[in-house]
Amino acid sequence: MSNAYLLLRCCTRSRCAWDNAPLDSAPEYRRLLSYRHAFHAGNHADVLKHLVLIEILRHLGKKDASFDYLDTHSGGGLFALDAAETASLQEYKSGIDCIYGSDEPALAPYLETVKAFNTWSSLSVYPGSPAIAAHWLRPQDRAWLCELHPADHEALVGNMRGYCNIRVAREDGFAKLKALMPPASRRAAVLIDPSYEIKSDYDGVVDAIAGAYRKFPSGTYALWYPVVERVRVERLERRVADSGLRNVQQFELGIAPDTDAKGMTASGMIVVNPPWTLLDTLQPLLPTLAGALGDGAGHSRCAVLVPE
Ligand SMILES: C[S@@+](CC[C@H](N)C(=O)[O-])C[C@H]1O[C@@H](n2cnc3c(N)ncnc32)[C@H](O)[C@@H]1O
Repeated sequence: MSNAYLLLRCCTRSRCAWDNAPLDSAPEYRRLLSYRHAFHAGNHADVLKHLVLIEILRHLGKKDASFDYLDTHSGGGLFALDAAETASLQEYKSGIDCIYGSDEPALAPYLETVKAFNTWSSLSVYPGSPAIAAHWLRPQDRAWLCELHPADHEALVGNMRGYCNIRVAREDGFAKLKALMPPASRRAAVLIDPSYEIKSDYDGVVDAIAGAYRKFPSGTYALWYPVVERVRVERLERRVADSGLRNVQQFELGIAPDTDAKGMTASGMIVVNPPWTLLDTLQPLLPTLAGALGDGAGHSRCAVLVPE
């Protein structure tokens, strides 16, 4: 799909530019929305998340029948690497930048997607999950993108303008997931990618997937999580295993060993009803990626969390 419609509108406002909006004045709402994905675009966590997302979308696109796609936490959609936020931390330098020139065949779909928004020789833009979906969706497919942050929602609307099969909503992604299942097409993928600023999100994501799965057990649900405190990940794994979900795989990619210090050293994807090719594709690829991104300290994991 052409990306000529994509208008690059990465927000360069300050973090507090939306503080005056009356709708957003509740303290909880403001705390929730301090996260801006532009600061982290293209980092190692995006590499893993988007690699998995692309495998899922490619797999669904192999059959002519249409499918529905829901991104519960969309972000701004497309990020200029020289925008103030992204340039301030330059997290893409230990992510996409390390592998942009790679000729590893298993990385080709991911790298070709990123290159569709850039020139082949130079990386200046990183596509977020909405732009990646826009690239892979076919005319018969439909997408719903939820984003609560006013500035990111505005950027997302601009970046998705021209895609008539994509709906952008300033709505709670968890509520949208509840409302959309089961989808009319009876084929669907859901990406759940919160920032986990609210610690109850670790439990909330499992409840949300389990609820959607009960209504639509054949959907593919992909959940991203950060490895900041290992105990939280272990609890998440136990809750997934005890939730009644079947056919669940887990993939992790880290650039440094677990630590008690602040900061994300790794991240993971938990996928319910994964494409049958996913485990075989990622098992040899993730150790290679961990080597390329991790400066010698990288690590990875592929596991079946719950069998079919
Ligand atoms: C990690 S970022 C999303 C990144 C994006 N999925 C990507 O891969 O490019 C999480 C986003 O979720 C938004 N958000 C937080 N809570 C939300 C909710 N309940 N519903 C919808 N969006 C939410 C935040 O404003 C933030 O932009």
